[in-house]
Amino acid sequence: MATDEFETLAIHAGQEPDPLTGAVVPPIYQVSTYAQDGVGGLRGGRLSGASAGPGRWIEGYEYSRTANPTRGALEECLAALEGGTRALAFASGMAAEDCLARAVCRPGDHVLIPQDAYGGTYRLFDKVLAGWGVTYHPVPVADSAAVRAAATAFSPRLIWVETPTNPLLSIADIAALAEIAHGSGALLAVDNTFASPYLQQPLALGADAVVHSTTKYLGGHSDVIGGALVVGDGELGERLAFLQNATGSAAGPFDAWLTLRGIKTLAVRMDKHSQNAAAVALMLASHPAVARVYYPGLPGHPGHEIAAKQMRGFGGMVSFRHAGGEEAAVAMCGRTRLFTLGESLGGVESLIEHPARMTHASVAGSPLEVPADLVRLSVGLENTGDLLDDLRAALG
Ligand SMILES: Cc1ncc(COP(=O)(O)O)c(C=O)c1O
Repeated sequence: MATDEFETLAIHAGQEPDPLTGAVVPPIYQVSTYAQDGVGGLRGGRLSGASAGPGRWIEGYEYSRTANPTRGALEECLAALEGGTRALAFASGMAAEDCLARAVCRPGDHVLIPQDAYGGTYRLFDKVLAGWGVTYHPVPVADSAAVRAAATAFSPRLIWVETPTNPLLSIADIAALAEIAHGSGALLAVDNTFASPYLQQPLALGADAVVHSTTKYLGGHSDVIGGALVVGDGELGERLAFLQNATGSAAGPFDAWLTLRGIKTLAVRMDKHSQNAAAVALMLASHPAVARVYYPGLPGHPGHEIAAKQMRGFGGMVSFRHAGGEEAAVAMCGRTRLFTLGESLGGVESLIEHPARMTHASVAGSPLEVPADLVRLSVGLENTGDLLDDLRAALG
């Protein structure tokens, strides 16, 4: 299994036929509790031995907050896709973020966060963790020298990075930031939601933890909310698993199953998302109603070379500034036919939104405030020409 390529792992890792029935996909174990062989002894002897499947089948179970076979299948697959040793599946991306921050940080600690991050990440540090004495400092993660200076000034416990960032598609140099983090005694966490493990594998570049909103590309069909953490270090993995169980933020079995089903097609979806987004970015770049396009695949993007070095493709997210200003941007979001006005991203269907008033409303007035004329597109898998026509018509 270890030598299999990404597409193969996405379909097979953690997904061996059910040892009991031969079902070719992991069943939905919609169960809260499990019969045990004796007081303090887990069940498992029946499935052990030569015919047993992977480790998760013979370990036995006691209670699904702690472990569940369907969630275990997803976690095994996620660990394989990110090249980690341990993955944990959560009820949402925010639950995963909270678990990581609280496992690693203690009152008095400092964290560096991106100057343009997902609004919910900012809210978590600003409105929740700050109340427990964890101080955050926004830094431009695309500027490694600025991150190094902030790391020297604050001696952070954790450097938190998104790349590409949401919504401005900035690119952080993961290998450079890992070196900076480790040189200052910090851990590097990378939110890999925009890229997905198919396009980028932060652990291989030196990161200590990968964060996902699996709601997005991993699930891929706008039908499930979920999150994940993946790490390479076993001791950190144990601490995260302890906290996840202690606070009860794990993904439910049906959500885990839906996410695993989405993952099977991740590679082909990401290739097509990237192709469609590149076509959209090129069209927007030459459109008179567009002032600026943010897409790391465009050679003029300041992070293009680093993205080309650390990513297999440039992904399906494109943001742009409307030359007509805020009201023109807002009006355009209501004029598309195929791009549905909505939050979230990463599904097969194209979405359009106005970050300042929608996904990033919580950063208004903060150092993370986004431009008011910004429009964000999650470019889906529809026909390329149809998508271009839709945007041209809405731009006018
Ligand atoms: C980059 C990024 N990280 C994390 C999250 C939070 O994930 P969730 O909505 O699944 O809690 C989001 C949600 O939009 C996101 O865009």
